[in-house]
Amino acid sequence: MGILDARNATRFVREFILLGFPWHREIQVLLFVIFSIIYFLTLLGNTSIICAVWSSLKLHTPMYILLANFSFLEICYVSSDVPKMLANLISQNKSISYTGCLLQFYFFSMCAAEGYFLSAMSFDRFLAICRPLHYPTIMTYHLCVRLVICCWAGGFLSILMLAVFMSWGPFCGPNIIDHFFCDLGPLLALSCVPIPKTTLTCATVSSLIIFNTFLYILASYTLLLHAVLRVPAGSGRNKAFSTCASHFLVVSLFYGSVMVMYVSPGSRSHPGTQKFVTLFYCMATPFFNPLIYSLRNKDM
Ligand SMILES: *[C@@H]1O[C@H](CO)[C@@H](O)[C@H](O)[C@H]1NC(C)=O
Ligand SMILES: *[C@@H]1O[C@H](CO)[C@@H](O)[C@H](O)[C@H]1NC(C)=O
Repeated sequence: MGILDARNATRFVREFILLGFPWHREIQVLLFVIFSIIYFLTLLGNTSIICAVWSSLKLHTPMYILLANFSFLEICYVSSDVPKMLANLISQNKSISYTGCLLQFYFFSMCAAEGYFLSAMSFDRFLAICRPLHYPTIMTYHLCVRLVICCWAGGFLSILMLAVFMSWGPFCGPNIIDHFFCDLGPLLALSCVPIPKTTLTCATVSSLIIFNTFLYILASYTLLLHAVLRVPAGSGRNKAFSTCASHFLVVSLFYGSVMVMYVSPGSRSHPGTQKFVTLFYCMATPFFNPLIYSLRNKDM
């Protein structure tokens, strides 16, 4: 089949079926209840961080502005796939339109922006702890605003290419996705024209984003730890330690699951593992972040 024929055939796949969790009805209802509670608590926790930062002048510092943006991102990111998953758990009609599927993929991929925000936050902590004297002059409000803009723009743009590729990729059936939302791997597997280049490009782009931000964050926390250990023991050191520990916990949660998902070869092929790991990083990370930040932080 030529590329053009295949592209015409795109018309035949108007919607995809998201299999989700094809288990017993009772288990699905139970999952629905559990996931709804987690989703509600996630929204609540992240919204309270944003409100706390907005309402308190004391928290109008770069660190908290970045954190509020990060929380906002998590709300968007969780809301891109969880409501549809919840609806599919209790509904018999598990279809999603072609456009809806691409949009879902696009917004879910905003987790790239999450990597950028984590990098910006580690840069901020690095300056604050390793260059305390220069911190107020370097990390001005303007720089902070610029960082925020770069993170959002970076998140939207770096995935735009993948989304364009995906919308080109002709889908002529089958249209059954054994997943609970339209993720890259399952979608690529359904494309009917062999597109090794697309697969390769997608893999390259996502690994570049994951590894670059991860290496950057790792480097800043190594320097940070080094600096913190040189500070004489005392309250200052403890405070620096606990802030960095909470940031680092979030980083490990996020990158741990992302790496298992996108880097380990076996997890991709097995739909069960794939669903479980995806579920972990798309629900657990945003759920734990507010807890980690507010429990470990006296300002909050
Ligand atoms: C399922 O819902 C979609 C809209 O979300 C609709 O277009 C489609 O016709 C429905 N299918 C069935 C079998 O009800
Ligand atoms: C994100 O950062 C911008 C610029 O620093 C700030 O004005 C905005 O209030 C932040 N967004 C949230 C949701 O806090």
